[in-house]
Amino acid sequence: MTIKYMSVLTKTKETVIISGQTPLFGTVTTQGSKNSALPLLAALPLLPEVELTNVPDLSDIHVMVDILKYLGATGTFSEGVVKLDLRNLINRPISVEFTDQLRASSLFMGSLLGKFGEGRVGMPGGCVIGSRPLDIHTNGFKTLGAEVDSGAGYHTVTSNGLEGQFTLPLPSVGATQNLIYASIFSPGEVKLHNIAIEPEIFELVNFLNAAGANITFEMPKTLTIRGVKRLNPVQFKVQPDRIEAFTLLVAGIATKGSVKVTHCCPEHLTAPLQSLVDMGAKVEIGDDWIEASYVGPLKGITVETGFYPAFPTDCQQQISILMALAETPSILTEKVFNSRFRHLDELRNMGAEIKVNDNSAVIKCAEDAEGKPKNMIGYKVDSYDLRGAASMIIAGMVSEGVTTVQSLRYLYRGYEDFIEKLNYLGAEISYK
Ligand code: EPZ
Repeated sequence: MTIKYMSVLTKTKETVIISGQTPLFGTVTTQGSKNSALPLLAALPLLPEVELTNVPDLSDIHVMVDILKYLGATGTFSEGVVKLDLRNLINRPISVEFTDQLRASSLFMGSLLGKFGEGRVGMPGGCVIGSRPLDIHTNGFKTLGAEVDSGAGYHTVTSNGLEGQFTLPLPSVGATQNLIYASIFSPGEVKLHNIAIEPEIFELVNFLNAAGANITFEMPKTLTIRGVKRLNPVQFKVQPDRIEAFTLLVAGIATKGSVKVTHCCPEHLTAPLQSLVDMGAKVEIGDDWIEASYVGPLKGITVETGFYPAFPTDCQQQISILMALAETPSILTEKVFNSRFRHLDELRNMGAEIKVNDNSAVIKCAEDAEGKPKNMIGYKVDSYDLRGAASMIIAGMVSEGVTTVQSLRYLYRGYEDFIEKLNYLGAEISYK
């Protein structure tokens, strides 16, 4: 099936060459949040009209807009603004062509179910970060009264209105989002327990309530959704991308410089910023900015990723670069996904000392024959997912010699102008 609306992302270069170990200094702004904008876009079948601002120019965003146009939406995505008319939407299956390339496309299952009483999506591809089933999504739909048929490469969910209560076995971000969408027009009330509490969840709740939904949060992790008849047109600004902000701060520390990111939400990064301080970096925060500076040799620490507000898995690959520069060993444990260490093979090839045992790794800097710390050596590395791509670019900026990073299509999925921002701060990176 060819999607005639395929919008074109401006960035197409697949490889960058990184030379020099220049420190980064300066101030950059944070992009709009990818992991906020994607679920807001997936919610749009529930609305008649929308204007979203501060939307980042990412390939994942373009795919979601293409899917909405494939469903019959009309409008534009340009200059960070998504303006769509959704009144003539038709219910079509979201094929595996979409779900295979972008897991967030599986979120249309809930919004199509909520809007039309049926949602049909292709089975999502397992990304290189691990198997990524949808069992919590589909079990939630079933528990709340829907019929679920999973076969022939599709999940098909039908219902004439969800009601009741469901406790998520683990606080899945996507399952929380899908179950919210499906419950917006409930004939009664839906209670979801043990929901994900990432900032992106509260942004989605605020967005839907601004459009006329009736969703309330009760501590510690319960949402109550009282059904409404319809939603109204809404204008909404996407919040800053906390993961991009953290990635840029890590680049500043790794290169022995100092980077300030503005237009961000420091309160969304409490755990990862504490880890930077524990490693010996200087971190200063204001209302909407964070500045991180290198002030001396980095120390090894212990980090375990977890569900919010624990250390986010999406910051794991970035902090592993700092661990590969630290003179004392770190222990890094990935508890959210079951395969998010592929970048460590590349770091080991660059000289870092890394021992992996299942989902835990001991990481420290490269050493010379006398056991003294030495630089990593640049070489040709590959990217396997978007956070890994950004992390390998940072590794290249701190390694001796020239580093080539390939498969930048992963970077463009989540980072808008990442290379341009790094070069503005003093990096020497050129597209090949
Ligand atoms: C969201 O993915 C983010 N993506 C991910 O960011 C992020 O890493 C993840 O949440 C965790 O914070 C977007 O927001 C678009 P989950 P999601 O459902 O919703 C298991 C990035 O780099 N699980 O919270 O897919 C799952 O396998 C991306 O920006 C089930 O077992 O994550 C995983 O181990 C990567 N069954 C864990 O839960 C299910 O039905 C967390 O997954 C659903 C999930």
